[in-house]
Amino acid sequence: MSFSSSWLTLREPYDRSARNVAVLDAVATWAAGRPSIAVVDLACGLGSTLRAVTERLPKRQDWRLVDNDLSLLARTAGLARPPDLTVTAVPVDLARDLEMALDGPVELVTTSALLDLVSHDWLDRLATEAAARRLPVYAALSYDGLATLDPVDPLDAAVIDAVNQHQRGDKGFGPALGPAAAATAPARFELVGYTVTHGASDWVFGPKDAEIQTEVLTGWAVAAREIGSSSIADIIGWLARRRDLIAAGRSSMRVGHVDFFASPTGTR
Ligand SMILES: C[S@@+](CC[C@H](N)C(=O)[O-])C[C@H]1O[C@@H](n2cnc3c(N)ncnc32)[C@H](O)[C@@H]1O
Repeated sequence: MSFSSSWLTLREPYDRSARNVAVLDAVATWAAGRPSIAVVDLACGLGSTLRAVTERLPKRQDWRLVDNDLSLLARTAGLARPPDLTVTAVPVDLARDLEMALDGPVELVTTSALLDLVSHDWLDRLATEAAARRLPVYAALSYDGLATLDPVDPLDAAVIDAVNQHQRGDKGFGPALGPAAAATAPARFELVGYTVTHGASDWVFGPKDAEIQTEVLTGWAVAAREIGSSSIADIIGWLARRRDLIAAGRSSMRVGHVDFFASPTGTR
């Protein structure tokens, strides 16, 4: 599954404001007092997690950015960064070679908008491999299946149901957890001995956020068409009504996400 750089760029400021501050504080508290830190960011995209977290970590940071999309990885090479920060972009297919991404001098694992794409088995593998290395994990922005639109349209619920079904399709890691990731992932880490801090990181789009609303709702219409539980005519009509509301500056929406920081019990 591929993600365009324009989509990742569009969503980054909304992700940034959505990230749960208590969870970010837990990461900062864990890292406080260290002279330096080595981080691996799984499925880094364009490096939004690095930009969101860097200020909360010790000044000297070594980041290993991992993704299987060479074009996104290539763009992370041009990131502006302070002198005490080194960044290495590493192409890895995480479905196949997760362990390779975690090996070596790593002290913190980060990821965002990944865990809803992965399967139950892959999540187990991540928790087990991280626990074996006693690595803390900051995982942001897992979709939780709860979305609301304002004003309400009679077809919203059917479209959101279809989106949630679509989210459970295979995204390259086996059948995806989709909306179940938000509850399953923190619980899975607790089961292998982690202390978990978690909290909501919902996207909140107001009437002025027209471009991202249009992008998200168009993606939902495509997903609903692929699932096929509503007719194509109904979906086209729904998208046209929603776009009219956006154009009139009358549309708002909230899309539920969850962040967590899992720290191996017994470490700060
Ligand atoms: C929703 S994007 C999130 C990107 C970034 N973490 C962010 O929050 O902006 C999902 C990312 O997962 C990456 N990805 C998907 N499947 C992958 C795989 N098998 N191995 C490595 N990366 C993968 C995509 O290339 C994409 O960058």
